[in-house]
Amino acid sequence: MEFNVKHGTLETMKTGCVVVAINESGKLAGAAAELDRACGGQISLAVKHGDISGKPGQTLMLFGLPGISAQRVLLAGYGKDEELNDRSFRKLVQKVIAVLKDGGATDALFTFAALPVKQRDLYSRTRLLVETARESLYQFDQFKSKKATKPRLKKVLMWSADKSDADALTRGVAHGQAISDGTDLTRTLGNLPGNVCTPTFLAKEAKVLGKQHPELDIEILDEKDMKALGMGSLLSVSAGSAEPAKLIRFSYQGGKPKDQPHVLVGKGITFDTGGISLKPGAGMDEMKYDMCGAATVFGVLKAAVSMRLPINIVGLVAAAENMPSSTATKPGDIVTSMSGQTIEVLNTDAEGRLVLCDALTYAERFKPASVVDIATLTGACIVALGSHTTGLLGNNDELIGKLLDAGKQSDDRAWQLPLFDEYQEQLDSPFADIANIGGPKAGTITAACFLSRFTKAYPWAHLDIAGTAWISGGKEKGATGRPVPLLTQYLLNQAQV
Ligand code: BES
Ligand code: MN
Ligand code: ZN
Repeated sequence: MEFNVKHGTLETMKTGCVVVAINESGKLAGAAAELDRACGGQISLAVKHGDISGKPGQTLMLFGLPGISAQRVLLAGYGKDEELNDRSFRKLVQKVIAVLKDGGATDALFTFAALPVKQRDLYSRTRLLVETARESLYQFDQFKSKKATKPRLKKVLMWSADKSDADALTRGVAHGQAISDGTDLTRTLGNLPGNVCTPTFLAKEAKVLGKQHPELDIEILDEKDMKALGMGSLLSVSAGSAEPAKLIRFSYQGGKPKDQPHVLVGKGITFDTGGISLKPGAGMDEMKYDMCGAATVFGVLKAAVSMRLPINIVGLVAAAENMPSSTATKPGDIVTSMSGQTIEVLNTDAEGRLVLCDALTYAERFKPASVVDIATLTGACIVALGSHTTGLLGNNDELIGKLLDAGKQSDDRAWQLPLFDEYQEQLDSPFADIANIGGPKAGTITAACFLSRFTKAYPWAHLDIAGTAWISGGKEKGATGRPVPLLTQYLLNQAQV
């Protein structure tokens, strides 16, 4: 979808559809009032006759209004001004896109620039609109013989009367598009089935991304390289699989050569059967999403490079398939991580931390300003926070604060869980330096405790996206692309652009 910025007198705009938001106060304001004057009161008449009142979710399409150059006017309700927040604004945009998607207009002009969305300036309103529209327009039909019908709508214009709004609108559109391009990539990689999206496939996709963006340097480490580095923990996960593990490195140098990079580390389990500690069958197909942390690294790098952020970024993806077989790691096996710490693998289904710990040790060599790992790590996180909020833990309060803020700013929120020392004891092992599970209590926290043993050299935070990376079951099933908006916002803030 193309998005552009437009200024000028509203009633003379030549477009397939002008989209106008109205509140439920019964009094037309802003763009709605302006159009109403131009067409001799047709819009207030529709309100008066009860065809639309401005309540959330209501829409009314008016065709060929006199005195207005646009073919159609779409009225959309959003409720009370004082209740307009991110959630109701997004719902408004989703509703409008749903109507336009099935309609005849090939282009539409949005007149939402002045809407009083709580705590949002023009730039961030515009960006949220673009991101929400793109989210609604995303389709994944690669494996359908009969493709989804493409909407006739091809172009969206963001209108404001005031030319001095141009900078904020243009920036909002550009950033919204870049973030959405990243989110779409993350969603598509996540949605791909496990027989297609293997570690080797992810490595190839990284090369494809590198071709599209020459600013990205890509390196693929294979199992031989990882063995030489001593990554016994990571390799213990791929041991049972015919698919070899890959460690993917993306480097982007948007800053000065000496600037310390921000490192992102993604869990890339392309399918998690649980291994010898086999998972139950019901819903196991969803474990194709166990590489959504990795997919997030792809998406954030794509967004950051598109925005040409003036900072240095390193992305690491630890990709492996977790399978049972006669060569698989068994409960009780002891492996040696790259850090030298030995790990008793009490449960082969706690494999995410086993691949991440070696990637986190590897991250030390980049002398990072910060390291954030992203992982569909624990079912316990879904119990704690459900599907709306990402779990956040780490060893540095400043970094945690920045990520919480970025989540608010991007409407892609996270919430902190404690990483108090008391929890560390749950990982004691009688035979090795550390066990890979911490018992039934506080599963998300003990998983982060495990990672914390490998992240002492730098400011580190961990995002548990088990609940937020995809929507389960039903018609809406699919990857969400979260937390690409949160992390891109975090990097934007680091770049101070
Ligand atoms: N990938 C899973 C976590 C998961 C489960 C994410 C369900 C989303 C939905 C992870 O590898 C796993 O199996 N974790 C175990 C850890 C346990 C064995 C300590 C879990 O959460 O049950
Ligand atoms: Mn698992
Ligand atoms: Zn897993």
